[in-house]
Amino acid sequence: MIILGIETSCDETSVGIIENDKILINLIYTQEQHRKFGGVVPELASRAHLQNLLPLVRQSLKETGIKLKDLDLISATAGPGLIGALIVGYCFGKSLSYSLKKNFIPVNHVHAHLYSTFLSDKKPEFPFLALLVSGGNTALYLIKDFFQMELLGSTVDDAAGEAFDKVGKLLGLNYPAGSEIEKLASLGDENFYDFPVAKLNEKYNFSFSGLKTSVLRFIQKNYPDGLNDETKRNIAASFQRALTKALIQKVEIACDEFKLSDAVVVGGVAANTYLRIKMRERLHPKNCMVYHPELNLCMDNGAMIAFAGLKSFESGYFKTNSITKPFPN
Ligand code: KG4
Repeated sequence: MIILGIETSCDETSVGIIENDKILINLIYTQEQHRKFGGVVPELASRAHLQNLLPLVRQSLKETGIKLKDLDLISATAGPGLIGALIVGYCFGKSLSYSLKKNFIPVNHVHAHLYSTFLSDKKPEFPFLALLVSGGNTALYLIKDFFQMELLGSTVDDAAGEAFDKVGKLLGLNYPAGSEIEKLASLGDENFYDFPVAKLNEKYNFSFSGLKTSVLRFIQKNYPDGLNDETKRNIAASFQRALTKALIQKVEIACDEFKLSDAVVVGGVAANTYLRIKMRERLHPKNCMVYHPELNLCMDNGAMIAFAGLKSFESGYFKTNSITKPFPN
């Protein structure tokens, strides 16, 4: 089966074509125009998707040599995300499938992230634990099969990526700041300051707004005249350590409780090498293997949408789920 996947939920316009679980192409266009606003401007995102989507589809067909008639399915992200941005990709995909008389499979963006490791060489086995860490989500799932999952917990305030971006702003970095913080942190002292992470009653929920506030207070109290480069590196490293520790703790508790031997970490923050290494160091000795998708599969991308569309079609999930139009939440 050859599937075209379209992703326009936020600030990445992406088109992927897969043949079963093999990626033929995965083009990702990151909209840089939001940087100067310190966050994604929804109207600008929708307009940029409108401009970029058709050229990306044409390029993906040209580079793979696939013809429109060769496509078996077309899938697009239906939500969650920015509603204007979602409408662009969803309507494009639905119209294309209608004109080609092919099935259109709407995809939940979260499902697509959770199953993204199946496009990598090393694939987890069901049941497994999935930690989704991105700019908009931080959640822990017990994945029993395709589209059979239990949400164990999620963030009660900021997502992990959001915390990276907000702390980045405090350090004078551009949005999104995750990879920049990682670079600074690699040169800093992670034991410089022990930033606290909130402890919650619900054992699988996360909270990161307190961590961000404690970085803010620390800077205000100790560096009212500004930060030098060394202090920025040290704060970045100490913040990254605190956040990573909180994520790993929950994954470890869940793997123990449900006696799981596979765990996956997906979403934009899963690109963080420190998190990858620390997670493996902690879980591999306990015989829990940790899987990460390749870097371009951590970002929002069309290939993972195509794969989730394929699995939804194969399992019949697309007939029973309730997605009939784009949904923001
Ligand atoms: O999944 P994603 O592309 O989309 C959204 O949910 O928006 O994730 C983007 C998030 C941003 O918050 C970004 O700062 C973060 O992922 N991120 C990282 C790294 N690369 C991207 N966070 C930590 N370390 C990284 N290397």
